[in-house]
Amino acid sequence: MEVRTLGVAGAGQMGSGIAQVALYPGGLDVILCDISEDIVRRGFESISTSMEKMAAKGKLTADQKRDCLRRIKTTSNIEDLESADFVVEAVIENEGIKAELFRKLDKVCGAEVVLATNTSSISVTRIASTTGRSEKIIGMHFMNPVPAMKLVEIIRGLATSQQTYDDTEKLAKQFGKVPVESNDYPGFIANRILMPMINEAIYALFEGVGAAKAIDDVMMLGMNHPMGPLALADLIGLDTCLSIMDVLYQGFGDPKYRPCPLLRKYVDAGHLGKKSGRGFYDYRNHQI
Ligand code: CAA
Repeated sequence: MEVRTLGVAGAGQMGSGIAQVALYPGGLDVILCDISEDIVRRGFESISTSMEKMAAKGKLTADQKRDCLRRIKTTSNIEDLESADFVVEAVIENEGIKAELFRKLDKVCGAEVVLATNTSSISVTRIASTTGRSEKIIGMHFMNPVPAMKLVEIIRGLATSQQTYDDTEKLAKQFGKVPVESNDYPGFIANRILMPMINEAIYALFEGVGAAKAIDDVMMLGMNHPMGPLALADLIGLDTCLSIMDVLYQGFGDPKYRPCPLLRKYVDAGHLGKKSGRGFYDYRNHQI
């Protein structure tokens, strides 16, 4: 199947990052869709800013940047995804919201179109069951920040066809990524390993083992992680971290995945990390 136009449902940090790599290096036309014009405008701006930085570093010419921005259409009308050849969903990590969206996409998009989910933890098989095309549903899990991270986890649902897998893998490579297959278990590979580490770092803070900066310094200076787990949680979004821990906890029924109460408290307070200005660190004065 030839993909010329990628539909991206969700224009937050993941959706806009996916749209960006589809434009460059992917070379596709992109339709970026979200529920409000304001959100899609911010998504478009973040792509433009990121490309500006790449241009300043000589990774992209000014002409290439202009061409990319001409190839993206933004919309708040999901029906506009009708003309997409392949769709990636990247909305909030909430199963009910994803299920509702997949039901709509199943109606709007042509029967031959693959609908991929960027879910970071939720069962691809269950998402597929909300549609009438479970052989064309697949997990395509990008990492944040999408333009900088090489990995795409690819997850087959129970009924995903080999053709869907091959098309998805080809697209991931076209976006400059390295696809790695993972089976459909809660959290797949990436978040089965990453999120309990982040949760444990939050427990260390909660129990007073160390201050936030000390915990992050230990992991950066002692384990060569590019950023500490608490700063990374802030980058990912604490609401997303909590949703993933809930999926692990419920999916395995094992107390070792219990989300730290401090994580829940931060989310309840609206301290969601970088995107809300406050998380384990305070970004309101650009301290980190
Ligand atoms: N757009 C384009 N390029 C970007 C970028 C963006 N938004 N953000 C970073 N980059 C590029 C930079 O241009 C730079 O490229 P060069 O080396 O070629 O110049 C490179 O990435 C490194 O960036 P910086 O020099 O600005 O900063 P840094 O060295 O501190 O790296 C980082 C920043 C890449 C975010 C690094 O700290 C890192 O790798 N952190 C860990 C990120 C991580 O673990 N992500 C996975 C999270 S888990 C997830 O996403 C899945 C989930 O389901 C929760």
